[in-house]
Amino acid sequence: MEEVAEVPALRAWRREARAAGRRVALVPTMGFLHAGHLALVDDARRRAELVVMSIFVNPLQFGPGEDFDRYPRDLNRDRALVRDRRVDLLFVPTVATMYPPGADTRIVPGAAGDRWEGAARPGHFAGVLTVVAKLFHLVEPEVACFGQKDIQQVTLVRRMVRDLDLPVELSVVPTVREEDGLALSSRNSYLGPNERQDALALNRGLRAAAVAWRTGERAGPALEAVVAREIAAAPALRADYIAAIDPEHLQRVDEAVPGTILAAAVRVGRTRLIDNLILR
Ligand code: PAF
Repeated sequence: MEEVAEVPALRAWRREARAAGRRVALVPTMGFLHAGHLALVDDARRRAELVVMSIFVNPLQFGPGEDFDRYPRDLNRDRALVRDRRVDLLFVPTVATMYPPGADTRIVPGAAGDRWEGAARPGHFAGVLTVVAKLFHLVEPEVACFGQKDIQQVTLVRRMVRDLDLPVELSVVPTVREEDGLALSSRNSYLGPNERQDALALNRGLRAAAVAWRTGERAGPALEAVVAREIAAAPALRADYIAAIDPEHLQRVDEAVPGTILAAAVRVGRTRLIDNLILR
């Protein structure tokens, strides 16, 4: 596995890959890797001959008072994990490389970026889209792999790709979970044992709503209420939002149909967790 931190070295690697006619997949991450990231690598491997993973904790997507400084980082452990998984190139830029002094251009999403995560974290998605667009331009991947867990992020990246005619295919990989249902997230490392136990109510609620859907419930508010009941029963959780939304504009729906997303965010102490499922 090669590792580069600078743009000229990345571009040289990319030129060689192109000259050799090899298809490249990008897995963008903020590091502190877990099995969810490794599932993205496996997906990338199936879709391309060469896999690039970026590890960059992007300051632009953290608001004031958020966890940028304490976001978990362990580059040596990450290196070992991806080496075993056959990543071809690790791109580990510094903040100064990604955002040299004076770099103040941003990619700002439309209205779908102001809802849900965007409402709770103003500016978050402009930070995400800006860094993802930069990574797309730097790596020029044929395909890029994202996790379904961050479903609003994936939706907004898909719109950016379409609206700006970016020549990249997106692959969305199902959420990887612990055996007890908790969606894997680098932020799970913040949870104490009781918080972690209560956090299970998030997925339990979504699964209960999926059961209600399968047995005929179609009203968006009623499905949301099923999730809300589970979350309310967990003392450490405070619901941030629980929403049945359409997959294109991410607006609340009165009537759920196949493809409707049930998305929820909770606060557990200082930690914010998100999860979702797509009704089929
Ligand atoms: O999902 C993430 O880890 C980040 O939002 C991403 C896509 C790597 C951009 O910083």
